[in-house]
Amino acid sequence: MNAPSRGTAVELDPPGPEPTTDGRFGDFGGRYVPESIIPALEELESAFRTSWHDDEFRLQYATLLSEYAGRPTPVTECHRLSDRLGVRVLLKREDLTHTGSHKINNVLGQALLTRRMGKQRVIAETGAGQHGVATATAAALFGLDCTVYMGAVDVERQALNVWRMKLLGAEVVPVTSGSATLKDAVNDAMREWVASVETTHYCLGSVMGPHPFPWLVREFQRVVGDEARKQCRAILNGKDPQYVVACIGGGSNAMGTFAGFVTQCPDSVLIGVEAGGLGLESGHHGAAVNRGVPGIVHGMRSLFLQDEHGQVVEATSISAGLDYPGIGPEHAHLAELGMARYEYATDDEAVAGFQLLAETEGIVPALEPAHAIGWLAREAGRSIPSGSTVLLTLSGRGDKDAAQLMDRLGEL
Ligand SMILES: Cc1ncc(COP(=O)(O)O)c(C=O)c1O
Repeated sequence: MNAPSRGTAVELDPPGPEPTTDGRFGDFGGRYVPESIIPALEELESAFRTSWHDDEFRLQYATLLSEYAGRPTPVTECHRLSDRLGVRVLLKREDLTHTGSHKINNVLGQALLTRRMGKQRVIAETGAGQHGVATATAAALFGLDCTVYMGAVDVERQALNVWRMKLLGAEVVPVTSGSATLKDAVNDAMREWVASVETTHYCLGSVMGPHPFPWLVREFQRVVGDEARKQCRAILNGKDPQYVVACIGGGSNAMGTFAGFVTQCPDSVLIGVEAGGLGLESGHHGAAVNRGVPGIVHGMRSLFLQDEHGQVVEATSISAGLDYPGIGPEHAHLAELGMARYEYATDDEAVAGFQLLAETEGIVPALEPAHAIGWLAREAGRSIPSGSTVLLTLSGRGDKDAAQLMDRLGEL
């Protein structure tokens, strides 16, 4: 079979496994929400289950992915970076999708579901602004009203994306509570949804929140991993990459990538890279698997950074998209089973990764996947033996981060 390549139609693999009946991945997941939104979650679960097995829906979704979002995205072999690191690096190029990140895959699926459920309005939370831009884009395409909640700190550090959302016709609501970042944006979006659930779909942007979101978002992102597996086999003469690496905020690009490998490529080691912020010992980071404990937040049971009283601790990261104190429940489950490894890269290592990829490959990554690059640069020749093959998902492009990095790096 030919590997997916640009300009060819997207062919979706069959649906992946469902969580258990009440949306559990082992001990994690579930649906911890106010009574008033249970009917909307049940309606969404049923609409998604039916649609995801419906040929017409799947064709509409696949057509949007190819003709609007520009899929399949390529896997690029990085010769100069590989020479520099001593490992063979292949990048899955989600930065080349329309709107510049993997977030579009999920949003197009949820926009189709919104239409099927007869709703006219979407709301969303956003950190880096990429999910907000993707949602505003899909809303423009489908003629839906759109409101995006964004922490006030992120509004400032991702000003370009705020402007893009407004240009696309969305209302952007800055959130000033708490740390004024992604966690607080999710709080406000959920609060608003309780009030507007009859007419509004909450287009959640990662594999988190109450059931069915972690499952549904994983399924809309699994195209990343399913494509990458076939493309890697074509490049590696039928073999699978030894390591499959992706950065983790809530965990959607990683979960979408892992979904293509976890059962089909048992020899590939799956690695999620969390935000190490100022270093794990500093207490200022976003490493929810490395330093989190189980808790219930944002409608799900998962791992969260918490203090000794069980209060959620603010995350710290240079990158708005990884600045979240929790992780999606399926990742918590994979971590508990030892089926995936969770590592981290600090802010400084992410900035170094950002520069390294630009200089060696002419690709400017978003700060989020720059964490994965920075981690690989540290570990190549150490925990990742020289000569290994590594697939790394480049979840987005770096334009949105240019102003922030200009401030930090100054004159080059
Ligand atoms: C480019 C990019 N990568 C990764 C992330 C993190 O999200 P997730 O862990 O859901 O992939 C974001 C979030 O905004 C992003 O914009």
